[in-house]
Order: sequence, then structure tokens, then C-alpha cells
Amino acid sequence: MTGKTVFISGGTSGINLGIAKAFAAQGDKVLVFGRNAEKAEAAALNIREQTGGVALAGSADVRDIEAIRALFDKASKELGKPNVVIAGAAGNFMSPAVGISANGFKTVVDIDLLGTYNVFRAAYDFIITPGASLIAITAPQAVQPLPQQVHVCAAKAGVNMIVKVLAMEWGQAGIRVNAISPGPIRGTEGVERMAPTEEDKIKWSAHTALRRFGNASDIANAAIFLSSEMGGYITGTILDCDGGMKLGDASGDFITLPKR
Ligand code: NAP
Ligand code: COA
Repeated sequence: MTGKTVFISGGTSGINLGIAKAFAAQGDKVLVFGRNAEKAEAAALNIREQTGGVALAGSADVRDIEAIRALFDKASKELGKPNVVIAGAAGNFMSPAVGISANGFKTVVDIDLLGTYNVFRAAYDFIITPGASLIAITAPQAVQPLPQQVHVCAAKAGVNMIVKVLAMEWGQAGIRVNAISPGPIRGTEGVERMAPTEEDKIKWSAHTALRRFGNASDIANAAIFLSSEMGGYITGTILDCDGGMKLGDASGDFITLPKR
């Protein structure tokens, strides 16, 4: 039992739901929220059933800071103020730049970049200090240019800078700000969008030094470490949890070892 309260934007599916389950399983109270209230209720029920823990559902669009503030206020009254806030909500689609309208570009920047800022800025007014931990879920596209991802590359690069600047500004209040950069994670919406076919999945596995996809639990372990006292002197860090994906060049060419 660590007794923390953890608020997670985008905690209603995929990687972030995996993170929520891991915190709930160790005895922390979690709030999961997305835009869709029914999906959030189902996710919270799923967390409670699988972990026996405390999970509250909420709905707010991360593009709307007042909606986030109202939800954090309500959840703080029901669960207690948060010790950990995770900004994991994101939107993505694959398209070359010429296929993306100004509104399409803005939509992803608004969800990923402005949304991360909104979640952290709203959290600042609620989070318990000192000892607080804010974690953004970024992506390799923040530092690795990728065709068909101009909107995501731009947005996630900005997310990394939000993390570093807020770490500098808020460290004095005892708030640590970090990001986790997952590689391709098995069974998620993100991977299905990036690698819809089996051929794509084999190609993406070859981009990692470990030659395999990760699991949501790999990212959850990183989040639990970063938010714990064991990570107490870590702030402003982008923690790669990606099987060594960014070690190779964009073509993913690693050598083949001779048989041992
Ligand atoms: P996912 O299952 O599609 O989950 C996205 C979550 O964000 C859902 O809970 C969704 O709920 C919520 N959401 C989307 N737009 C929102 C908005 N405007 N306001 C509030 N909530 C919103 O995602 P995933 O593939 O697991 O990815 C999770 C995170 O990991 C993302 O930040 C992604 O960039 C990052 N990541 C993923 C991978 C991967 O392999 N999947 C790799 C690298 C990085 P609603 O639809 O109800 O709003
Ligand atoms: N290619 C090009 N443009 C696209 C697109 C695609 N595949 N999908 C959406 N767009 C454009 C739309 O055409 C629209 O632009 P327009 O008004 O100029 O036509 C703009 O994006 C907004 O689309 P809309 O459907 O209204 O946005 P939304 O806010 O309802 O949804 C998305 C946001 C598009 C990111 C949607 O995919 C989503 O909700 N994603 C959340 C889940 C997710 O992406 N998970 C993976 C996380 S890594």
C-alpha cells in the first residue's frame, strides 16, 4: 500500500489504462478520464474488478482546461488531492502532410500539446506538495522525424519541452516533472494505427534493439518507478521505455548476430 492518489488523462484505454491498473493494484486510488463518459465508467469498473482497488471515472476533454479543473476539484473531494498526475491522452492518425488540413494538424496539436499543458497546469492547483510527480506520456516522434506524422512529431516535441521547462519552474515547490517515451506497445490503438498489418508489425519490431513490441506493463513499471521515492531525485527527464528503438537509424537497420 503506497496510499497515493493518481489522476490519469486518457486512462480509459491502452497504455494509460495499464498504468492505472498497476497503481490500483498496489493500493493507490486512481481517477481515469477521457472524453467518453461511458468508456471511462467501463474502464474504472474493469480496474476495480481486476485489482480490487479504488477507481473513479470522469469525463473531460483535455483541450478544455475549465472542464479539467472541474473534474480535478470533484475527484479531489471524492478521492483526496492527487500526489501523481499523468498526462497520457493523445490523438493520432497516419497521413502525409499534404493530406492533413490545418484543422487536422491543429486537432492533434491541441490534444497532445495543449492538452498536456492543460492537465499539468490544472494539476498545479490541486497536487500535494512537496513530493508530487507529474508524468507526460510522450513518443519517439518527439525526437525522431517520421513521415506521415508531422502533426504528432511537432506536438510531442513540444510535450518534451513542457516537461523540461515545468521541471525547472516547479522543482522549488517539490514537484517533479518527467515524461515516459514508450516504444511500440502490443495491443494498443496507437500500434494499430501505426502498424495495421502483420507486415507493418514485423517492420516496427525490427526498429527496436530488443526486436519486439513492449507491453503496457513495461510503461506502468516506469511510471511507478518515476513517481516513487526511488525516483525522488529525477526531474526534467524523458525516460525512453522503447526496447532501444531510438538507438538505430530511421530504417531500423541493426546487425544480425551470428548464432551463439
Ligand atoms: P489509446 O488507447 O487510443 O488511448 C487514448 C486515450 O486518450 C483514451 O482514454 C481516450 O479516451 C483519451 N483521449 C483522446 N483524446 C482525448 C481528449 N481530447 N480529451 C481527453 N481524453 C482524450 O492510446 P494508446 O495507443 O494506448 O496511447 C497512449 C499514450 O501513449 C499516448 O500519449 C500516445 O501518444 C503514447 N504512445 C503510444 C504508443 C503505442 O505503442 N500505443 C507508443 C508511443 C507513445 P476518449 O476517446 O474517451 O477521449
Ligand atoms: N487523415 C487526415 N486528416 C484526418 C484524419 C486522417 N486519418 N482523421 C481526422 N482528420 C482530420 C479531420 O478531417 C478534421 O479536419 P477537417 O475539419 O479539416 O476535415 C480534423 O482531423 C479533426 O477531426 P475530428 O474527427 O473532428 O477530430 P476529433 O477531435 O473528433 O478526433 C482524432 C481526434 C482525429 C485524433 C481521432 O483520431 C481521435 O479521437 N483519436 C483518439 C484516439 C487515438 O488517436 N489513439 C492513438 C493515440 S497514439
